[in-house]
Amino acid sequence: MEKISIAIDGPASSGKSTVAKILAKKLHYIYCDTGAMYRALTYLAIQKNVDFENENGLVDLCLTHTISFKQTEKEQLVFIDGNEVTEEIRQPNVTNAVSIVAKHASVREKMVELQQTIGRLGGVVMDGRDIGTAVLPDAEVKIFLVASVEERAERRYKENQEKGIKTDFTTLKKEIEHRDYLDSTREVSPLKQAKDAVKIDTTGMNIEEVVKAIEEVITVKS
Ligand code: CDP
Ligand code: CDP
Repeated sequence: MEKISIAIDGPASSGKSTVAKILAKKLHYIYCDTGAMYRALTYLAIQKNVDFENENGLVDLCLTHTISFKQTEKEQLVFIDGNEVTEEIRQPNVTNAVSIVAKHASVREKMVELQQTIGRLGGVVMDGRDIGTAVLPDAEVKIFLVASVEERAERRYKENQEKGIKTDFTTLKKEIEHRDYLDSTREVSPLKQAKDAVKIDTTGMNIEEVVKAIEEVITVKS
C-alpha cells in the first residue's frame, strides 16, 4: 500500500499521542508529536527567562537553539541542543504556559515549517491541534478526536498518578478546560475540526477501540 499522511487533531488528553504512536508502529510510519515542539520551546523560554508574550524573543530562541527528536521503541525522546528534556517538557509549569507561547503567528510559522519538512517524507502520523487544517491540509486521512472533559481529566489524572505526579482532579480539569479555550480561540490556526476530518467521540472507548475506529477510516480512505 502506498504511504499516506495521517493527521490527528483534538483537545488536550483526547488520546491523540497514544493512538498516533500505536498506529505509526503498526504501519511502520514516522510518528510526529507536534505538541512536544511547542512544549520544548516553552521549556526553553522558562530556562532563558524569555517572557511568554515576547514573540520576537521566542522566535530568536527557535533560531538560536535546536529542538530535535529521537524515536525509540517506547516513546519519542525530545532534545534541546542535544540535551534530553523528554520529562521536563511534561511538567505542569510547561503545560500551563504552552498555549500562550503557541498563540504567536511567527512562532507557529517556524514550527509548521519544521513539521511540514517531516510531513514531506510521507508515511507519517502527526498529532496536534492544526495538523488537518494548516500543517498537512492534503493529508489523506484526518481524524478529530474528542471526549468529554470529565473523562479527559480522569485520563490525565490517572496518568499523573502512575508517573507519581501529584495533582488535584478539580484543578486538572479546570486547567484542561482553560487550555482548550485558549487553543480554540486564538487567532492563528486555532484548534478546529478540518472540514474533511472524521470526528470520533472517544468518551467511554478504550485505546484499542479508538485505534480500531481509525483503522477503519484508513481502510475506507486509502
Ligand atoms: O498532550 P496534550 O494534549 O497535553 O498537549 P500537546 O499535544 O502536548 O500540546 C501542548 C500545547 O501545544 C497545546 O495545548 C497547544 O497550545 C500547543 N499545540 C499547538 O498549538 N499546535 C499543535 N499542532 C500542537 C500543540
Ligand atoms: O495526546 P493527548 O493529549 O490527546 O492524549 P494522550 O496523552 O494520548 O492520552 C492521555 C491519557 O489518556 C493517556 O494516559 C492515555 O493512556 C489515556 N487514554 C485512555 O485512557 N483512553 C483512550 N481512549 C485514550 C487515551
